[in-house]
Amino acid sequence: MLISLGALFGLAAQVGARHIPSSLNSLSLIEYPRLDSRSSANDIVTWDSHSLIINGERVMIFSGEMHPFRLPVPGLWADIFQKIKALGLNTVSFYTHWALMEGKPGDYRADGIFDLEPFFKAAQQAGVYLIARPGPYINAESSGGGFPGWLARVDGEPRTTEGDFLNATNIYMSSLCESFAKAQITNGGPIILFQPENEYLGTDGEYMQYIIDQARSAGIVVPFLNNEIGPNGKNAPGTGVGEVDIYGHDGYPLGFDCSSPNTWKSGKLPVDWHTKHMQQSPSTPYAIAEFQAGAYDSWGGYGFDECAKLVNHEFERVFYKNNFAFGVKIFNLYMAYGGTNWGNIAWPGGYSSYDYAAPIRETRELTREKYSELKLIGNFAKVSHDYLVAVPENLTTSTYTNTPDLAVTCLRGQNGTGSFYVVRHDDYSSLNSTRYRLKLPTTSGVIDIPQIEGKELTLNGRDSKIHVVDYDVGGTRIEYSTAEVFTWQEFGDKKVLILYGGAGEYHEISLRASGKASILEGPLSGATLRRQADKIIIGWQTSERRIVEVDGLQIFLLDRNSAYNYWVPSLSTGQKQNTQSIIVNGGYLVRNASLEGPNLLISADFNRTTQLEVIGAPPSAKNLFVNGQRIRYKADNNGIWTSKIKYKAPKIDIPDVTRLKWKYLDTLPEIGSSYDDSTWTDADQPTQNQDYPIQTPTSLYGADYGYHTGYLLYRGHFNATGNETSFTVTTRGGNAFGSSVWLNSTYIGSWIGSANEGSHKSTYSLPELITGQAYVLTVVVDNMGLDEQWGGYSVKNPRGITSYELSGRKAAEISWKITGNFGGEDYVDKVRGPLNEGGLFAERHGFHQPSPPVKPWKTSSPLEGFSSAGIGFYTASFDLDIPVGWDIPLSFKFESGTGNKGYRVQLYVNGYQFGKYVSTLGPQTVYPVPEGVLNYRGKNWLAVTLWAQDEGGAKLDGLGLVQSTPILTGMNAIEPVAQPKFEPREGVY
Ligand code: GAL
Repeated sequence: MLISLGALFGLAAQVGARHIPSSLNSLSLIEYPRLDSRSSANDIVTWDSHSLIINGERVMIFSGEMHPFRLPVPGLWADIFQKIKALGLNTVSFYTHWALMEGKPGDYRADGIFDLEPFFKAAQQAGVYLIARPGPYINAESSGGGFPGWLARVDGEPRTTEGDFLNATNIYMSSLCESFAKAQITNGGPIILFQPENEYLGTDGEYMQYIIDQARSAGIVVPFLNNEIGPNGKNAPGTGVGEVDIYGHDGYPLGFDCSSPNTWKSGKLPVDWHTKHMQQSPSTPYAIAEFQAGAYDSWGGYGFDECAKLVNHEFERVFYKNNFAFGVKIFNLYMAYGGTNWGNIAWPGGYSSYDYAAPIRETRELTREKYSELKLIGNFAKVSHDYLVAVPENLTTSTYTNTPDLAVTCLRGQNGTGSFYVVRHDDYSSLNSTRYRLKLPTTSGVIDIPQIEGKELTLNGRDSKIHVVDYDVGGTRIEYSTAEVFTWQEFGDKKVLILYGGAGEYHEISLRASGKASILEGPLSGATLRRQADKIIIGWQTSERRIVEVDGLQIFLLDRNSAYNYWVPSLSTGQKQNTQSIIVNGGYLVRNASLEGPNLLISADFNRTTQLEVIGAPPSAKNLFVNGQRIRYKADNNGIWTSKIKYKAPKIDIPDVTRLKWKYLDTLPEIGSSYDDSTWTDADQPTQNQDYPIQTPTSLYGADYGYHTGYLLYRGHFNATGNETSFTVTTRGGNAFGSSVWLNSTYIGSWIGSANEGSHKSTYSLPELITGQAYVLTVVVDNMGLDEQWGGYSVKNPRGITSYELSGRKAAEISWKITGNFGGEDYVDKVRGPLNEGGLFAERHGFHQPSPPVKPWKTSSPLEGFSSAGIGFYTASFDLDIPVGWDIPLSFKFESGTGNKGYRVQLYVNGYQFGKYVSTLGPQTVYPVPEGVLNYRGKNWLAVTLWAQDEGGAKLDGLGLVQSTPILTGMNAIEPVAQPKFEPREGVY
C-alpha cells in the first residue's frame, strides 16, 4: 500500500536538488467528528466488570507483545505467533512506528517489510487475537518513541493540542487506522482492541479525544483500551473528554537496572492494584496493558543475560500470580519477543539488540526457563474458566494458612463457581522454604489441608502457587488441589488433568468420585490414595510421573521440570478458547496439530532426539505425522502414543568471515584535499525548531535539512587569519554518541562517547594555520536515535552541531555544509525504509547494499584495519547453504580487546544495518541477524563501517559468524526479504 498525500497538503518537501525541507506549519486542523461507532462491534466484542466477551465467549485476554518492525522478515512473524500461542496465550499486542511509515511528511508507506497485511494474516492463521497500538506516540525504547524527526519543524508541544502537532499526525493515523479497520474482528480479522496513544502523560482530554476521533473516523469500532503509566485512573470510563472504553495501565515493578539481578528490592511487589481498580474503573475488566516480561538495557549496560536473571521464571511465578490475585483479565506481557533495533530504530538509551530478556530470545530460541514457566501459567489461565468471574478479596496472612510468613489472596467463586487461593511469601523476595498448612473454605465446608496425617506443604523461596478449590474439570469437581493445574482436557468419555509441583514437594488433591482410584503408572510408594465418604483424597511426594485414574479421569502428577515438556495444541484453527486439543509430551516446541481423516498431524521443533507422547489422540486418528513425515508409534493401555523423533544435527559450513575476500574503501574522502562538496546541502537556513533556538549563525541541526538518522557530516569552510588556535564544538547525538573533527586532512580529535552523555562540548587545539589559506573543518557526528518524548520538547532535541567557536574568529566566518543520508527525507532506499542508512560516503552511494562496485577497491580486511583516525568501509560476500527444515539462528560476534581505544562500527547485512557496536561501551558484542535478511541458501553481502576515533587508527579485534544449536523445525520455509542491489545513485556526492 502506498499513499502519497503530500501534494494534497501542499508539502513540497524538496527544494531544488538540496533536499531542504519546507516548513510544516500552518496547515488547517482537520476536525474529526466525535463518533460513537463502537455500537456495530457491540455484539462481537463486549465486556462487563469481569472480562471481555468475544462472540459470546467469556475470555481472559492473555497477551504477549511483539513489534513487527523489530523483526523485518514477514515470513518469521508466524513463528513468533506460534511460539506465543504455544504458551497458552491467545493474543499479541503490537506497536507500529510512525517514523518508519512516514519518513517524509505526507508520504505514508506501508509496503514490503512495512506492510502489515501479512502480519494480520499470520496472526489469523496462528489463531491469536491482536491489540493494535499505533501511538502515534509509542515510546518503546525506539527513536523518537515513534515520532519522525521532521516533527522538530512542526510548531507546538508534541502530544498536545498545541500548534500544528495534531495535524502532523493525521496522515499516519488515518492511513494506518484504515488498514487496522479492515483487519478488525468485525470484518473477520484478528484485531479485537485498539489502544490510542501510550502512557499519555498530559492532562489534556481534548488531545486524547482527538486521537480517539481519528481512529473512529478511520473505521475503528473495537473497544479502546488505554495504557496509563501506573494505576491512576486517567482517561478511565466516566472521566469525560478523552475517556476510553476499557481502562488499563502498565507496571514494571523491578525496573531496568540489571546490575544486581539476584536482588529483588523491598516494596516492589504491587499490593493495591485491585483496590485501585475498584476505585478507578469498576465497570471494566481489570486490564494491565503492559507488564514487565523482561527489561531493556542501555549502552554500557549489563547485557540481556543479566536482565533475564532479574526478570526470570521466579519473577513470573511471584509477580504474574500476584496479578492474578488482583483478578487481571486483560494481561499483556511486554515483551514476549523483543527483536532487533536494526536500521537505527533504537533510542539513544539502547543498543541494537532489543532482546529484552523476553521469554522468546532475539534469536527466536526458546532456551530461557521463563518461557517454560510462562507456558505453565498461560495454560492454567486458558482452562480455568471460573477464574474469569472469581472476585478478588483482601490479602491476608492469617486466615488461610498457619503461618504469618505467607500471604494469601482469595479469588472468591460466585454462585457455586470455583475459588482460587494465591499463596506467596509475605516478604515476596524471601528465599526461605516455608512449611505450611491450609484452611480452605470449600462447598463442603472448611478443610484443613493436608488431610493425610503427618504431611506438610512447602513454599520455596520466590515461588507462588495458585491452589484451586471447587475447580471444575469438565463436570468433575476437584474439591481442592495443592498441586497446580497445568491443563485439563476432555477426550470423548475420558478426561485428563495435568498437575505439577516442585521437585520433592508433598501435594494433595481431593475430588468427588464414586469409583476407585488406581495408579496406572509410576511408583506406588510415596503416594496415598484414600476414600473419604464420597471423595477420593490423593497425596503424593512429587517424583517421577504418576498417572492416577478415578472415574475416567486420568490425573497426571508431574514435577515442574517434566511439566515444562508438555504442550496443548488445539486441533482447530482460529482464536476460540474452548476447542478440542491434544496434549503432547514433547520437547523443545510443539507448534500446532490437526486431524485430517485418519491422520494426526503435528508440527514441532526438536533440539535433540526426543521421545514424543501424544495424549488424547482422537479415536478416529490412526496415523501420526510429524512435520509432514509419517512416524511409527506405539499405543499403550492408557491410550498414550509413544514415538521417537531422531535428531542428528546437520554439519553446516559456516564461513570464517575473517578470511573472506574483503574489499576496502576509505569512506571519509571528505578529508582529502581534492574533495568537492559543492553539491552538499548548504547549512545556511534559520532553524524551524521553535523550541531549541540556535546558538549558531545558521542552523546546524540535522532535522532542519531533513537528516534524521545515522551519521551526520559537516564541512565548515573558512579562510585562515593565522590567529585560530583552537576549535570548540558542542555536538549532540544522544547518549553514547561520538564525534570526530578533522582540519583539512589533519585529525584534530574525538569525543569517544559515554553512556550518559547525549551532548558534549570539546575544545581542540589546532595546528598553526597559514594566513589567507582556505581550510575545511570536517565534523562527523553519530546520531544514536532521537530522544523519546517525556513531556516538554525532548523529541525535538537537535542532532548535530549545536554550538562552536573558532578562536580569534567570528562564528559567521565559517560557512557550513551538511549531509546525512543521501536524499534526507527523499531517501532512496524505499525498501529498507527511511532510517536504515546514514551519511557516510559509502552509505550515500549505497555501497552497503549487495554487489557494490568493488573491482577497483583495495583488498583489505577490517581485521587489518588502518593506522590513523578515519573511517573505513569494508565489504565481502559469502555463501550459505543451510539445509531446509532446520532453524539455525546466526549471529555476528565482535571481539572486544582494544581497551579504551575508541572505534565505532556499523554492520550491514545484505544492505540492512543490523548492528552498531561501540568498542568502549558495549555491552553488546553478539548481533543476531534473522534468516530472510541473511540468505540461508545463497549469496550474502556483509559490510562493516569502521570509524577510528583514535589517532592510531583501528581494527576489529575479531569478527565471527556464530551459529546456535540447530533446531529441527516445523516452521515454514522462509522467503528472503527484498534486498535491492547497489545501483549508481543519481546526483550522489
Ligand atoms: C512502558 C512503555 C513502553 C516501553 C516500556 C519499557 O512504559 O509504554 O513503550 O517503553 O515502558 O520497556
